[in-house]
Amino acid sequence: MPELVGAVVAAGRLCRQPQPTLTVDELTVRPWRPSDATAVVTAYRAPQIQRWHVRTMDDAEARAWVASWADRWAAETAASWAVTDAGGVLLGRTGFRSVDLAGGSAEAAYWTMPAARGRDIAARALIAVSGWMLADGGLHRLELSHSVENPASCRVATKAGYGYEGTRRQQALHSDGWHDMHLHALIAEPDQSGAIR
Ligand SMILES: CC(C)(COP(=O)(O)OP(=O)(O)OC[C@H]1O[C@@H](n2cnc3c(N)ncnc32)[C@H](O)[C@@H]1OP(=O)(O)O)[C@@H](O)C(=O)NCCC(=O)NCCS
Repeated sequence: MPELVGAVVAAGRLCRQPQPTLTVDELTVRPWRPSDATAVVTAYRAPQIQRWHVRTMDDAEARAWVASWADRWAAETAASWAVTDAGGVLLGRTGFRSVDLAGGSAEAAYWTMPAARGRDIAARALIAVSGWMLADGGLHRLELSHSVENPASCRVATKAGYGYEGTRRQQALHSDGWHDMHLHALIAEPDQSGAIR
């Protein structure tokens, strides 16, 4: 049966270009490196990261997790970046845990190392990678989902321009049971010249 609507983004648009490194103020937002694994283990020892990302991570898992992002970029199924300071210290994670090029959408995910919180790192990094995914990646809609019990994430979403769209009841199982989840989204908006911001 013929499709009446084609793919929003042609296959190959992401993987044909190298995953970019972006600079945001004093932050560097770059692809993951094997040397990040130790800091990722530390990140996943933090109770809030365990709670909201619903997992822990040992050394071997962290090495596999870090290595997986290059494969997922090549497969165009996800796009994840490490956020570091100028000295290369890992401050956080940002990006998209899933990408659907044909549908033109992706789902954001982020955390900040406990010691780096209070500097607006998650929102600033998310704005940078979101802008890139809309303008250079060609996506149309970026989504973000967080528990209603996670007001810090709600604030990050709002500050990054992801508008609140509604609450999905008992959408995600956490270690203490089902949580209602806020859905936020950022839509590509062409300016007067047709360029995507
Ligand atoms: C959510 C998270 C990434 C934000 O990290 P961050 O970028 O360092 O955020 P900041 O501490 O700078 O705070 C950003 C904003 O959230 C607000 N905020 C922080 N903690 C908050 C809380 N508990 N309740 C309400 N607002 C809060 C801050 O006041 C700030 O808003 P403002 O600039 O209007 O004052 C971080 O708390 C984290 O990693 N949490 C655990 C993992 C997680 O929740 N990931 C998201 C899963 S959906």
